Parts: sequence; C-alpha cells; structure tokens
Amino acid sequence: MRTSRTFSGLLRAGLAGLVAAAGLFTAGTLPAHAADTPLRDLAAAQGKVIGTAVTGSKLTGTYGDLAGSQFSSLTPGNAMKWGTVEPTQGTFNWTEADQIVAFAQAHNQQVRGHTLVWHSQNPSWLTNGTWTSAQLSSLLQNHISTEVGRYKGEIAAWDVVNEPFNEDGTYRSTLWYNGLGSGYIANALTWAHAADPAAKLYINDYNVEGVNAKSDALYNLVKSLKAAGVPIDGVGLQAHLILGQVPSTLQQNIQRFADLGVDVAITELDVRMALPADSTKLAQQKADFKSVVAACVAVSRCVNVTVWGFSDSDSWVDSTFPGYGAATPYDANYAPKPAYYGISEALGGTTTTPPTGACTAAYSVSNQWTTGFTGQVTISCSGAALSSWKVSWTYGAGQQITQAWNATCTQSGADVSCANASYNGTVADGSSVTFGFNASWSGSNPVPSVTLG
Ligand code: XIL
Repeated sequence: MRTSRTFSGLLRAGLAGLVAAAGLFTAGTLPAHAADTPLRDLAAAQGKVIGTAVTGSKLTGTYGDLAGSQFSSLTPGNAMKWGTVEPTQGTFNWTEADQIVAFAQAHNQQVRGHTLVWHSQNPSWLTNGTWTSAQLSSLLQNHISTEVGRYKGEIAAWDVVNEPFNEDGTYRSTLWYNGLGSGYIANALTWAHAADPAAKLYINDYNVEGVNAKSDALYNLVKSLKAAGVPIDGVGLQAHLILGQVPSTLQQNIQRFADLGVDVAITELDVRMALPADSTKLAQQKADFKSVVAACVAVSRCVNVTVWGFSDSDSWVDSTFPGYGAATPYDANYAPKPAYYGISEALGGTTTTPPTGACTAAYSVSNQWTTGFTGQVTISCSGAALSSWKVSWTYGAGQQITQAWNATCTQSGADVSCANASYNGTVADGSSVTFGFNASWSGSNPVPSVTLG
C-alpha cells in the first residue's frame, strides 16, 4: 500500500540566472511532471522495455511510485546475488528478492535476474573454502538450479554470467575460471535453461559497449556458444559510462551481436560526472543518455534499457568512484534531470521542460496517523537557481496546516501558501531546500498539486 505520492510543480527558468537574481516568478498554468508520458509507455510504443535497478527496502513512497510508474522492468541491485541469498551455506534469504519480484508483478513489470555466476559479492564460505573442481561444479549447479528454480516463470531474463572477461579479452581469473576453466560458462547457461526453459539467458559485462578487444572476445564467445547449441539468448552491455564518453561504435556493436541471433540489453546504464554537477554537465549527460537509448531503439533486437538506479540518492557511483556522481536520470530529491528528458526524447517523447533546467517543488507525506500527518515539500533546482520562493497548493479534503518549519505558511480556506524563511530563500543550481509541516486530516488525505511560483 503506497502512502505518499509526489506531484511536481514546474517552474520554467530558461533565463534562470536573470530571473533568479530578480526573484520574480509568476504562478500560473505551468506544466507538471506528472503530465509527462511515463518512460515505460514511451518505451512500449517503441517495442522496448525500460528498466531500473532497485533496492527492495526503498520501494515505498516517492521511490516506489517512480519505480512502479516509470519503468517496465526491475533488476534487483543486490538482492539476487549469491552473497545475499545464501550468506551461510545452506541457509537462504530470499526476503528482498521476493519483495522485488512481488512489487514487479503488482506493477506489471518484468524482472531481470542478476546475477548467478560472478567473481564478486559471493559469500565468504564459498570464496574461503577449498574445493575440488567436482565440488565447485556441483556447488555452482546447485546454486543455479535452486535460484532459477525458485523463480521459475517469474524472471524474464537472467544475467547468468557476469563480467567474465578482462579488458584485453582474456578470461578473468576468478574462482570459476581458475577452478573449472572457461567451460563454466556453457555449463552455467545449460543449468539455468534446465531450471527455467522460458527465461532468456544473458552474459553481461562492462566496457563492452563499443567495438574493442573485450567486446570482440564476448562476440566470439557468443558465436561459439551458439554454434555449440548452448542456450544463450542475449548479451548485456552494462554501460557504466563517463560523461561525454558514449562509444561512437555503440550502435554498430549492438547490431553485430543482434546479427549473431541474440538479443541485446543495456543492463546497467549510468553516466557519471566529476562533482559538482552544473548545467553544462547536465546537458551533456542528457545527450549521453539520449544517444545510448537511441542506439537501442535503432536496433530491433535491442530489447531493454535498464538504468542502474534511477535517482542520484540510490546510485553505486558516489561510493565506488570518489569525486564522481550525479549519474542517474533523477536527482536525489526525485526531480527529473535533463537526462530523464534525454531518455524520454530518444523514446519518442516530447520534452515539456526547457533543457536549460528548472526548479521544481515536490510534496510528500512522510508520516500519517489517525488525525494528523507530517508533510514536506522539497524545492530542487537543476540547471536553474532561485533567490526566493513561494509554494502554494489547494487542499481537496479539508486538510488544515497546524504548524510549519523552515517556511512561513498561511492557509486561507483550502488554499495554502508557504514562503521561504529568511535563511533558505536561495536554492543554488544542483541543490535543494526542504520545509516541513504538520496538518490535520480526516476521511482521506489526497496529495495536492503544488505550484512553485
Ligand atoms: C553494484 C551495486 O549497485 C552496489 O550496491 C554493490 O555494493 C556493488 O555492486 N556491475 C554489476 C552490478 O554487475 O552488480 C554492480 O552492482 C555494479 C557493477
């Protein structure tokens, strides 16, 4: 049961600096983000699936609303990895994986299972153990049979093998390759197919987006697996990219895999930039997201584009690449960034926000009890800035503000108006300000549309 929803008021700010300096805003009929066609609908019209990696515990509130409404595929970011599902040998924990699968089913979404055979995020009992080849092989077979079997019929595609190659195209030295040789790949695919014949089976890697030594190795592997009759259905190009560095051969590379008779998915798209973000970088990031999605749209066997986290609040980038961040299509307050509109435009959508940036206000209910609730509004600027602000809305069900902090709020009848406090009128480009309030409600507590003006 979702308890809060967010609608955004959008402030056009093409001449952001000038307007912000003057502190002049006109409230009026501004387009709301809620009116933009969801990415999943745009993707469906192109015959594509658009996905995101998710964290199970976050699938409520605004995060849950966006994950459910904008995307048609979910990939558990960590929940299906071996170290998560079997932390102690023989003791399984499917809680988060089950939760994500259930959420996906409730929202009519596919699930990409991630991942069965990898060198990373394995349980310590496995990596610290001493195993004969036969034992290792049987451990892997059991793992694959157990996990794929558990979700039989519920997973559209599995990243069966993750990151098998080095940058030069040789096989990566891992527990699996060292113990079993390269044959572990064909075996893993065969075991996965036996456990769920309907699931599409993928090999997934990074730095294989363009034509290079590593993608050549992957290409040759897929070709030989196909020739040997091994069940291989697709190739996953992770696409953890750096700003301005979308490979020029991306579409050509997607096409050559498609021509082998396999599907292609962009499985982990993000575009990281050196922090802090600014409007120039955000515009480049929009172009980058747009060109990646356009390359997939251009190849019929490219079936899915998945972003590795949809919000800058839920990205692996900041902790993995120090000094880099802002890698996803929504900012940390769930306001869509220019990159969101890059995806949308590549999927045939029409952008209603100026590419130069915007400031938005998002309302959410953070806590609710029988007679009252606590709400908050976050004003975020991306490619624009404010020197003062006022947010207004009209309550539709008799709600009454009783107290506010970090803003001065007045309510007249159903109309609420909140202006900045003396100390938080400035919202710099790339930053946000939040104010909160308590209010009473009875009967129902629908979320109002808010206007920033
Ligand atoms: C990342 C997760 O997002 C992080 O939360 C975790 O700490 C490390 O792994 N390639 C992959 C993903 O295939 O599984 C990785 O996910 C990112 C790189």
